[in-house]
Amino acid sequence: MKGRIPQAFLDDVLARTDLVEIIDSRVPLKKSGQNFSACCPFHNEKTPSFNVNQDKQFFHCFGCGISGNAISFLMEYDRLDFLDAVDDLASKLGLEIPRDASKAEVPGSADLYDLMAEASQYYQQLLRKKSDGGKAIAYLQKRGLSGEVARDFGLGYASEKWDGLLNFLGGSPDRQQKLIDTGMIIKKPDTGKCYDRFRDRVMFPIRDKRGKVVAFGGRVIDQGEPKYLNSPETPIFHKGRELYGLFEARQANRKLQNILIVEGYMDVVALAQFDIRNAVATLGTATNEYHLQQLFRVVNDLIFCFDGDKAGSAAAWKALEIALPLIRGDRLVRFMFLDDGEDPDTLVRAIGKEAFVDLQTQAMPLSQFMFEHLAKDSNLATADGRSSYVARVKKYLEKVTDPVLRELLITELGERVHLSTEQLSNAMDITQTSAVRSRKIHSGKPKTMTPMRMVIGLLVQQPKLAEQVADTDWLEFLNQPGAALLKSMLEMLHKSPHLTTGALIENWRGQDEHQQLMTLASWEHLIVEQDKVVVMFCDAIEKLFIEIRHLRLSDLISKKKQNCLTEKEQLELKQLLSGSI
Ligand code: UTP
Ligand code: MN
Repeated sequence: MKGRIPQAFLDDVLARTDLVEIIDSRVPLKKSGQNFSACCPFHNEKTPSFNVNQDKQFFHCFGCGISGNAISFLMEYDRLDFLDAVDDLASKLGLEIPRDASKAEVPGSADLYDLMAEASQYYQQLLRKKSDGGKAIAYLQKRGLSGEVARDFGLGYASEKWDGLLNFLGGSPDRQQKLIDTGMIIKKPDTGKCYDRFRDRVMFPIRDKRGKVVAFGGRVIDQGEPKYLNSPETPIFHKGRELYGLFEARQANRKLQNILIVEGYMDVVALAQFDIRNAVATLGTATNEYHLQQLFRVVNDLIFCFDGDKAGSAAAWKALEIALPLIRGDRLVRFMFLDDGEDPDTLVRAIGKEAFVDLQTQAMPLSQFMFEHLAKDSNLATADGRSSYVARVKKYLEKVTDPVLRELLITELGERVHLSTEQLSNAMDITQTSAVRSRKIHSGKPKTMTPMRMVIGLLVQQPKLAEQVADTDWLEFLNQPGAALLKSMLEMLHKSPHLTTGALIENWRGQDEHQQLMTLASWEHLIVEQDKVVVMFCDAIEKLFIEIRHLRLSDLISKKKQNCLTEKEQLELKQLLSGSI
């Protein structure tokens, strides 16, 4: 996936980003000597061992071993995937990830997007035609929707015909194939005949975050099965990755304060009708981590509003479990519980905008929901009941990765079971999250300091040292681990001498060398005195060079013994033995 973003673009983004600024806005940093420091946001600690170096554009925690550049920080702290982290940094700089690199860009997919846009136009136009869309309009009106909201959401109508879309858009075999690829038409396996997937339905276009139509949901008019028919998974649509209404919400309000997560298409649209334009819905799937990451990139305040039925409350608990690892002190997650049989659509129509917004502001904080839900099966009046309750809560608190927030939750739990925070912390022993535990295992430090490690370690910490080594061809003959890595580091730095540590390391993301380089980058003890660095570096290079001479020498000598030296090699051997090269 990463290979598709040009390295030059990543270099540029990292060169123009300040890691200190990125981190400081999330975790306030204090200047300490050369570095900036803070208590590590990735593990629980009382004294700061999390360091950020501005020159290197690199952070490292001596406590838990985590380190990296600005991209790594966002991936860990904001829990973004690689592309989203790059996208965040880039958009702050007013840059756009080169188009062919964005993940939606499957080969040939540009045509698929175009076709979906045409399909959406077609359905919208049918809705406006009385002869076709008359009953759809009547249905939407019956549900209280205005033409304006229908237009904002691009609602349309698919006619009863079996080949309406097929005839309108499938003008060539190539286009027909693309309609099949987008799931808009279906090809019968036995006869090979094609027909429209959506017929006689109100059409809800599903737009991705750029506003491109990637799929449709089609609602039957009045009664019928299935109530909603949805596009299948296609090269441009993965239903677990999209949120219905997110694009529209951002269009309606560039500065969203909070986002309401509801269950259905109709809920989103009905709320918009009441000018509540911050609702999104998952597409008939449970809320997943990816959804929440996307939403947290837009706002810090999420309100779940599931239907007031059994399925709704199960969905709410599931959402809580997904949210736990993502919540932090600055992120609010709340829950609105509706009465049985109610959904946001029926509720807002019954009580109106103001009362609905009131309910929204009274939504229950995640912690309260968690504590109360888990308390349902425990008798907190007895010591036994309280201790089994604590054990049950512990399981969930372990999922909270934010150390500060976890402390707060432990305090809150203490108040609920009448134990001091200290007693509780001891009883629960959750000082480290599993993420930190696994990192400690993976960041095993190299044991001995070989010249190769020294050279690579110094170079990654002070990339300017690359100018000390003009020629890199000789490294090809050095038959030892690290030689190829060193060669490409030097070549990279000769081409781009201003790369920082953080930007240099970025070149190896996803490869084994990445962790090794990060470890070496954080070995600050390699450099005892700054003014000796060049000498140390050149010494270590010299050692590598001597090693090559030895290798070459023994190679030539054994060839000589077998009497198979060329004239050129004889000369080389002579020079090597006399020490002139
Ligand atoms: P609901 O049945 O709650 O839908 O399903 P709704 O939006 O309130 O619809 P109305 O008010 O009856 O018109 C919630 C969501 O589950 C998915 C859809 O995404 C729907 O919006 N779903 C539901 C389907 O995909 N297929 C179905 O047959 C039903
Ligand atoms: Mn409904």
